[in-house]
Amino acid sequence: MLVSFTKAGKRKGYIVKVRLKDIAKEVGVSIAAVSQVLNDKPIRITEEKKQQIKRLAAENNYTPNAAAKSLVLKKTNTIGLIIPDINNPFFANLAKVLEDLLRKQGYLLILVNSDDKADVEKELMQLLIDRNVDALIIALSTESYADEVQTKERLKKLSVPIVLVDRGIDNFEVDQVFYNNRHGGYIAACELIKKGHKKIGTMMNPDKNINCVYRYQGYLDALKEFGLQRKDSWHVVTKFQFEDAYEKADILLKNREVTGIVAGNDLIALGIMKRAKELGIKVPEDVSIVGYDNLVLNDLLEVSLTSVEQDVNDLGEKTVFALMNAISGQKPRYVQLTPRLIKKNSVSKRVSQ
Ligand code: RIB
Repeated sequence: MLVSFTKAGKRKGYIVKVRLKDIAKEVGVSIAAVSQVLNDKPIRITEEKKQQIKRLAAENNYTPNAAAKSLVLKKTNTIGLIIPDINNPFFANLAKVLEDLLRKQGYLLILVNSDDKADVEKELMQLLIDRNVDALIIALSTESYADEVQTKERLKKLSVPIVLVDRGIDNFEVDQVFYNNRHGGYIAACELIKKGHKKIGTMMNPDKNINCVYRYQGYLDALKEFGLQRKDSWHVVTKFQFEDAYEKADILLKNREVTGIVAGNDLIALGIMKRAKELGIKVPEDVSIVGYDNLVLNDLLEVSLTSVEQDVNDLGEKTVFALMNAISGQKPRYVQLTPRLIKKNSVSKRVSQ
């Protein structure tokens, strides 16, 4: 009976973690014998000692040491998730969905934030691998797209399975789960065109971030389909951040050429709307705006934001399925989901221009 051991723990008010070797010493058997008994594996010791081992384990709330368990099983049931912006509700929501789903499958999720920077992302990957995660789920940083060849080489060298979520890489054989961004950019622009807008600008970041490269391509597809002009001055390179959009919104708002704007995400749309209000420019009457992500906060705005939805519940479910695929060593797969337009009040008809 581990009386001294347990009493000491209880007397001091803290839980003393009983280990295999403590039980083995008390019963007078090897550590391996205790492990075999507690795992219901065959072992040549008396039935009395087996019962004593089980009783001591139960009385002392013995739980297998995670590190010891991982050594035996060669897995930790821990998954690393790297997101580029923990302040962005899209990623916060995605992280929560993934954490819920993985916990139900017995996995612990470790969430880290790369700040959309490639060097931070690289360091975090190594830190997570050093902590023996079983796999990595990565939403790549925007900077990683500045040199895709180098990024692919870096990902290939990782010693654990990976899944790219939300932001993929073309022609790269790993599991990837993302939304069809070209279609998203297309339906966003079409919503403005069908309401009569002919001069449509964009605030997004196509020269760096793959999702914006495709959203911008979808915007161009719509303009071409409807025979509308485009101007370089109608495209403003903007990070996925409220502040950046707020600072740059004058470029489109003040020249009063464009009557519609496709924003790279909802935070950009919010920055434009704040600046428009300060300038006395009415949304949607003077300028109509379509966002991207359909964040919950869009409904709290004076003018609720029409936005392209990327359902994070579906994205999360498909990502966990892809993760199990990657961990079990199956052939990598691309999973492309279809976004949809959620119409609210930030787009109005344009009669003449
Ligand atoms: O809001 C952040 C954006 O970057 C989202 O649209 C998501 O697709 C991510 O890539």
